[in-house]
Amino acid sequence: MPHADPGEPHKINLPEADMPREWYNIQADLPKPLSPPLDPRTGQPVDPAALARIFPEAIVAQEMTMERWVGIPEEVVERLLLFRPTPLRRARALEQALNTPARIYYKDESVSPAGSHKLNTAIAQAYYNKQAGITRIATETGAGQWGSSLALACQMFGIKLKVYMVRISFKQKPFRKLLMQTWGAECVASPSTDTACGRKVLEEMPDTPGSLGIAISEAVEDAVTTENTRYALGSVLNHVLLHQTIIGLEAQKQMAIVNRYPDVVIGCCGGGSNFAGIAFPFLRDKIHGKNVRILGVEPAACPTLTRGEFAYDFGDLSGMTPLLPMFTLGHRFVPPAVHAGGLRYHGMAPLVSRVYADGLMEATSVQQLACYEAGILWARTEGFVPAPETTHAIAAVIQEAEKAREEGREKNILFCYSGHGLLDLAGYDAYLSGKLANYELPQAEIDKALEANAGFPKLP
Ligand SMILES: Cc1ncc(COP(=O)(O)O)c(C=O)c1O
Repeated sequence: MPHADPGEPHKINLPEADMPREWYNIQADLPKPLSPPLDPRTGQPVDPAALARIFPEAIVAQEMTMERWVGIPEEVVERLLLFRPTPLRRARALEQALNTPARIYYKDESVSPAGSHKLNTAIAQAYYNKQAGITRIATETGAGQWGSSLALACQMFGIKLKVYMVRISFKQKPFRKLLMQTWGAECVASPSTDTACGRKVLEEMPDTPGSLGIAISEAVEDAVTTENTRYALGSVLNHVLLHQTIIGLEAQKQMAIVNRYPDVVIGCCGGGSNFAGIAFPFLRDKIHGKNVRILGVEPAACPTLTRGEFAYDFGDLSGMTPLLPMFTLGHRFVPPAVHAGGLRYHGMAPLVSRVYADGLMEATSVQQLACYEAGILWARTEGFVPAPETTHAIAAVIQEAEKAREEGREKNILFCYSGHGLLDLAGYDAYLSGKLANYELPQAEIDKALEANAGFPKLP
């Protein structure tokens, strides 16, 4: 039943000259505008000058711009060409194994030197910091994919980097730490004793696995208290999503080469950046009338879109960031220590939250065991070993392909293969040796975390 499509290549490659030279900003096309980030002290929109204390001005400008297209600087293009355009591949062996009439295409972001999509924005952010004369950056990392990407990007532009790595991942993924060190960065486990916020958390919760919310607090504190240092974030904010749209823009050109258009576009969601990267260019088509489904996939242990509330909340645990309009489980929520470290974030990008609230996309959640099962099937058919985060997208792809088989319907599925899992084999080991379990998140835990947000401004 799978389609042979003779003549259609397994790998659909774009020439370097066709790599996009502009990023796509969905703010220009949103039916309802994004609510602004608020200053928690005044309840008023944040003054851009305050943001300039933590980010270079060019990045603050990108955070706010309403321009539809933003030019990619030539030096960034040069660096991106190291691994871009990335291939669009057809997962024919998986189609065979599932005996499905669905065609499964994936945008392979695992081919970057750091192994994931995160390098797309890391290069751009390091470049803008360099242009602004910044000599040091502080950041957090969950699974280590972002930290290692930024380590390489900082090395490219001669900037020092300190990475606060969520403690559980620091333990689970020692090779990511080594990769960061190889590319010249300093990496410590978070909570650490290097910041006031880290010391406070360690006093209150000495055994905490850590969380992205805690690590962000430490990195922001470091940036505002250290000379000539700025902060960089690997997801969530508008400029990060903007830089990632190169994924979907390339995918549109590659789908056109084989004369196809996706019926459904799928991505896993942590803070929302790889999802937005692949989905927003297609969402633009949808806003202008095209019939395409857009599906975000999150872990059942950290179900921000599917069980969170749409409200203003801090981006970090200790309230150092502005209040962001987003789906959130509450900034005090410390997600259980599942292996997909990059998806353990209490909030969701404001832009993704907006389009979800407006019914322009769907969301679903998947349990950890189902994800690993999907990842193993993928590895045994397609060969490549996916990152634990990426297996969430794969699990949803398999469900869609099985549905197509049951309904006897053709369907083109496109998803973002956000990273490889070759440095995440500890998770595969835990799964294969039967040590992993699902986690049913009790509603009481979400309600309790959200109590801390009771007095925050409501969204209009
Ligand atoms: C391979 C991979 N995929 C997905 C994610 C989730 O991040 P985001 O939602 O910003 O794409 C991460 C985060 O670390 C990651 O490493």
